Amino acid sequence: MTGDVRAGGAKNSALPLMFACLLTDEPCRLSGVPDVADIRTAVRLLEKLGARVESPAAGEFLIDCSAVDQWEAPYELVRTMRASFLVLGPLLARFGRARVSAPGGCAIGSRPVDMHIAAISRLGAEIVQDHGYVEALSDGLRGGHVILPMPSVGATENALMAASLAAGATRIENAAREPEIVDLAEALAGMGAQISGAGSSLIEIEGVGRLTGMNREVVADRIVAGTYLIAGAISGGDVLVEGARSEHLGSLLEALEAAGCRLSEEKGAVRLAMDGPPRAVSVATAPYPGFPTDLQAQFMALMCLADGTSNIDERIFENRFMHVQELVRMGASIRSAGRRAIVTGQRALSGAPVMATDLRASVCLLLAGLAAEGTTEVLRVYHLDRGYEHIEAKLAALGADVRREKM
Ligand code: EPZ
Repeated sequence: MTGDVRAGGAKNSALPLMFACLLTDEPCRLSGVPDVADIRTAVRLLEKLGARVESPAAGEFLIDCSAVDQWEAPYELVRTMRASFLVLGPLLARFGRARVSAPGGCAIGSRPVDMHIAAISRLGAEIVQDHGYVEALSDGLRGGHVILPMPSVGATENALMAASLAAGATRIENAAREPEIVDLAEALAGMGAQISGAGSSLIEIEGVGRLTGMNREVVADRIVAGTYLIAGAISGGDVLVEGARSEHLGSLLEALEAAGCRLSEEKGAVRLAMDGPPRAVSVATAPYPGFPTDLQAQFMALMCLADGTSNIDERIFENRFMHVQELVRMGASIRSAGRRAIVTGQRALSGAPVMATDLRASVCLLLAGLAAEGTTEVLRVYHLDRGYEHIEAKLAALGADVRREKM
């Protein structure tokens, strides 16, 4: 595949930013919001709470939470999208109450919300869990000392939003450091929040009495950008990924370079060129700035065609290898034992009907299909639409033979 492709705004940044609008009664404007299913779920949830949401142009959202008069995120929406749990902190901080369905299990792991709940409790909320819901009440949050047992992205975001309106100082230790956290902290700062240390493991917040509206462009999606770079590598192509920020993609770029890809940085973009098969490279997922779990499946697809054997260790989620058996159906040689997959590269993969199980697994199968001999049919492609906008059009523009069957 050859050509230019643009990675849009990050879904995993846009979602917390949309929910952060609940912290203020002033109108907010977001731009660069990707056109993906999870964003539509977030809009439905905000509207259910009483917010007014308009999209005057592609990627642009005006969100007005002045008339919010509901405090419940129902099971039907949280089950569809776990990130809905992020309304807990903002609703509680602004209204003193929130009732949010517990998300339940998930295809990639058990993904509990205990750290979110512990963090919110540290800010003085009373939490009751019954009938499948988490209910939080407070007559005024106060700052507290939050120590996360691991750097959970969502728990850091919930705590950050709640603490912004809590009385006094909050420290979040072992905070997640992802660029999406920095994006949220900067957006909150633009609303008047007092935050320092975002992007490091210690975030300190001095609560303020009220927050104003925001006007913010969502940071570019490093996972989508990384996916297109891997697409270039797996097809032995030359692609320029616009919007890719090398400083957010360090661990992936290192692994791609070790695999033999030629990488160069151009203004606001990263170019990848690849000839011949990749070399085998082992990776282990880790919290940012480590290798992202959200790129593990895509990288595994590349390693299926590598010269040699690589170990892929998944250390964030306990069940994020659902793509392994599907890749094996395409002729890959992979042995998985617990959280390690041992991939022995093959000369070729063979196209087959395969089943997508989650967002990143589905794009991994699409990438494998691009490189495989013959036709690959990816079923349950709705998973893909949760996080990749217009992906078949973007891949087709790079020269891929891909189309969506209307079902
Ligand atoms: C965010 O999920 C992303 N989602 C995920 O993106 C991403 O895979 C993940 O971070 C890790 O990078 C959004 O940003 C909307 P975590 P999140 O809390 O916040 C455990 C994608 O494909 N944990 O950092 O839910 C948890 O089970 C996805 O776009 C607890 O035990 O992830 C996991 O093992 C999927 N208790 C680990 O921590 C808690 O209370 C990291 O999860 C919270 C988390």
